[in-house]
Parts: sequence; C-alpha cells; structure tokens
Amino acid sequence: MSLFYTLALLMAIVCSVTAQTFTDCDPLNATCPAAPALGTNHSWVFNETMDSKIWKVTNGEIDWTDDGAEFSIKKKLDSPTLQSTFFIFFGIVESHVKMAKGHGIVSSVVLQSADRDEIDWEWVGYNTSEVQSNYFGKGNDTSFGRGGFHYLENADTEFHNYTTHWTQEKLEWWLDGNLVRTLKYEDALDGKNYPQTPSNVRFGVWPAGDSDNRQGTIEWAGGVVDYDAGPYTMVVKNVRVHDFHTGKEYNYTDHTGSWKSIDVVKGNSTTVDQLNKEPEKSMAQKWAELPQAAKVGVYCGAAAAGVLLLAGGALYFVKQRKKGRLEYALDDAKWNNDRTEMNNLQSTWKTSEWGGHRGYHPVN
Ligand SMILES: *[C@@H]1O[C@H](CO)[C@@H](O)[C@H](O)[C@H]1NC(C)=O
Ligand SMILES: *[C@@H]1O[C@H](CO)[C@@H](O)[C@H](O)[C@H]1NC(C)=O
Ligand SMILES: *[C@@H]1O[C@H](CO)[C@@H](O)[C@H](O)[C@H]1NC(C)=O
Ligand SMILES: *[C@@H]1O[C@H](CO)[C@@H](O)[C@H](O)[C@H]1NC(C)=O
Ligand SMILES: *[C@@H]1O[C@H](CO)[C@@H](O)[C@H](O)[C@H]1NC(C)=O
Ligand SMILES: *[C@@H]1O[C@H](CO)[C@@H](O)[C@H](O)[C@H]1NC(C)=O
Ligand SMILES: *[C@@H]1O[C@H](CO)[C@@H](O)[C@H](O)[C@H]1NC(C)=O
Ligand SMILES: *[C@@H]1O[C@H](CO)[C@@H](O)[C@H](O)[C@H]1NC(C)=O
Repeated sequence: MSLFYTLALLMAIVCSVTAQTFTDCDPLNATCPAAPALGTNHSWVFNETMDSKIWKVTNGEIDWTDDGAEFSIKKKLDSPTLQSTFFIFFGIVESHVKMAKGHGIVSSVVLQSADRDEIDWEWVGYNTSEVQSNYFGKGNDTSFGRGGFHYLENADTEFHNYTTHWTQEKLEWWLDGNLVRTLKYEDALDGKNYPQTPSNVRFGVWPAGDSDNRQGTIEWAGGVVDYDAGPYTMVVKNVRVHDFHTGKEYNYTDHTGSWKSIDVVKGNSTTVDQLNKEPEKSMAQKWAELPQAAKVGVYCGAAAAGVLLLAGGALYFVKQRKKGRLEYALDDAKWNNDRTEMNNLQSTWKTSEWGGHRGYHPVN
C-alpha cells in the first residue's frame, strides 16, 4: 500500500504541475483557456457521492447522506467546499440549504467567475433568522452598503429555497418563492461592479471566527468559534442549475471582463456528455449492492475470475479514499492561503458595513 501511496503522490505532483486549469488564470490580465460550459438545465440531489468530473470537492471532506451533502466543521480550520467544474453564463441557481448554526461560522452559496465577479448567499452562524445577499464585480470590494439582509425563520433546522436569477440586465435573489432583492446592471456602478462573466457554483462552510483571525473578522462572524461545541454543519439537499447559454465553452476574447467580450464557443458541453454517460461510481454502487456473504468472500480472497472483478471494486474504494486524502493534503495549504487572501480583501468593507449594521450577537 505504501508503494501505491508513493506512486499516487508522485502522480498528483506531476498532474498539479501540468494541469493548467481555467480557474488558475485571471482573464483580466492573461489569456486563459476557455471555461467549460454547463450549457443546459439540470437538477442534482446531493444524497449520494457526486461525479467528481462535475462536482469537485476542493477542500476537506463532504458527507453525502440521505438528507443531503453535509459540510461540517469538526476541528480547527476545517472548511469543506464543493464547486462545479462547469460554468454558467447567466442563468438560475436554485439551492435548498440548511445553514450551520454557531458563533463565527459562515455558510455560503457562491457564484464566482475567474475574474472574481461574485454573487452570494451567506449565513452567519449566530443568527438563524437571516440570510445575506451580496455581489462583487471584478473583485472590487471598496463599495460599502451592497449587502442585503433578509429575514426568514429556522434557517438552520429547515431547508429553504435560495434562488439566484441572473441575466445581463438584472440580478434577483428569491427566498422561498419570494423576490427579496433586485440589482440592475446600471445600479452597480454603471455595470462596472455588475457580475457578468461565466461563473461556477460553490458551496462551503468556513470558520471565519477562528481565534487566529483578525478581530474585525471575528466580530462580523459573530464571535470566536468554539470547536468543542461542534461539529457545525451546513446541509445542501439539492441544487438546480440552468445555464442561459448552450454551447461547449466560454471564451474571454479580451481583458475587459465585460459580458460583451465573452464568446460562446459552439459544440457539445463536456458536462452534458458526462451527464449522459454511465456514472463513474457504478462500480462502487455494484459493490454496495452485493450481499454481505459475497463481500466476505471477496475479503477472504476467493480466486474465481468473477470475484477478481469485484475485488477491483474494493480496490477502487481504497484508491478513492486515498485520493481524497491526498488531494486534501496537497490542496489544504493552497486553499487556506486563498481563503485568507479573499478574507483580507473582503473583510475591510464587511467590518465597516457590519460594524454599523450588526455587531456581535450571541446565539439564541
Ligand atoms: C492580475 O491582476 C490581479 C489583480 O488585478 C493580480 O492580483 C494578479 O496578480 C495579476 N496576475 C498577473 C498574472 O499579472
Ligand atoms: C429545468 O429543469 C427542471 C427540473 O430539473 C424543470 O422542472 C424545469 O421545468 C426546467 N426548466 C426549463 C426552462 O427547462
Ligand atoms: C437520491 O434521490 C434520488 C431522487 O430522489 C433517488 O432517485 C435516488 O435513489 C436517491 N439515492 C439514494 C442513494 O438514496
Ligand atoms: C470600485 O467600486 C467603487 C465604489 O462603487 C468605485 O468608486 C471604484 O471606482 C471602483 N473601482 C474600480 C477599479 O472600478
Ligand atoms: C437576525 O436577523 C434578523 C433579520 O435581519 C433580524 O431581524 C434580527 O434582529 C437578527 N437577530 C439577531 C440576534 O441579530
Ligand atoms: C424555488 O424558488 C424558485 C424561485 O422562486 C422557483 O422558481 C422554484 O420553483 C422553487 N422551487 C421549489 C422546489 O419550489
Ligand atoms: C478565444 O479568444 C481568443 C481571442 O479572441 C482566441 O485567440 C482564441 O483562439 C479563442 N479560443 C477559443 C477556444 O475559441
Ligand atoms: C454532439 O452530440 C450529438 C448528440 O448527442 C452528437 O450526434 C454529435 O456527434 C456530438 N458532436 C460532437 C462534436 O461531439
């Protein structure tokens, strides 16, 4: 097993050096590979492991349960996150979510582009009666007063429907079927701060109130995280994503970051192709469906050819688990750096905005 592990580690290092992905590149000052498109309307129920070619766990571990995908903070600096490999160029994202409750814990559903356009739903763990709406254009964080605060009940114990409806003219946040906020293109600094470039979908939970973070950050997050009182869990039951364009990919033809500069490349979306394929996990499913007696047979090392095939299934599991740990170890440092950088960018205005609007509040 340790030989396997060593080989896997070497592979991972080689791959991470050679794989130039779209998200590593900022189209505002570089020529980037085109972003893969979703190019369709599709719903996912997060009750079983998702195809990693479509939904990628970018940090930590996610528990896929009957209730939905559970994003848990179990120990210091845990911050599990999931993101789509596909991008949408305007469209609808409908998420059914239970926020994580607790001081200093932030749950979020984010649409984000390579040049840091961003559309958010955010929940701050001390208040289970509030969801916040937010947006950024090209990472510009200097404007205060753009956060929206929306009342709802039992956001931690009940699933609510958080839907973003995004076009080139306007952005709408819908909460349980009610329109709670509209942002017009022209009202976001004449469009300059308007999110308008192909974005992927990200879910995550983050210990913003970690005791090592800045005081301002801890305050807006509602206090210091008490890791002993955890775990803190956000649950995403299901998501529907409707891309308003159909095509293969989205190409930035210049460095303006304007929606007018985005070329929709014709062709079949690789995500649609992948959706139409036999799911990658079918081997694992076959294994799960086997009677216990057959599994015992495999464990005992029966030599029949058919059983060898099944043993392949067991090995596959081991590989998947290792792969998960390996990716975690390799990504963790990078993730924490990125997160801190993003936090430093946004926390200045959040501290000011929240300082006036909301201070520290105890959890009820
Ligand atoms: C692109 O610009 C961003 C900010 O505008 C900067 O953070 C980044 O380092 C730049 N990248 C390159 C490759 O110049
Ligand atoms: C999008 O898909 C959902 C189910 O996944 C369906 O209910 C809805 O009608 C579809 N919308 C369009 C415009 O096709
Ligand atoms: C997940 O939910 C879908 C749709 O409700 C259902 O068809 C499927 O069997 C469920 N999967 C599991 C593992 O329960
Ligand atoms: C960022 O937004 C602020 C406030 O809306 C605006 O004054 C400033 O010009 C913007 N910066 C850029 C680079 O667009
Ligand atoms: C929680 O948020 C709601 C909606 O914004 C607000 O009415 C309420 O006062 C807040 N509660 C606390 C404890 O901050
Ligand atoms: C969720 O809200 C959106 C926007 O109002 C609506 O179109 C959609 O049908 C809702 N989903 C469910 C399952 O009610
Ligand atoms: C994307 O646009 C650039 C600039 O117009 C062009 O050089 C490149 O070939 C395009 N890529 C694709 C995949 O269309
Ligand atoms: C795109 O998909 C269609 C139908 O699924 C198929 O007939 C066609 O060959 C595909 N095109 C390419 C370029 O793969």
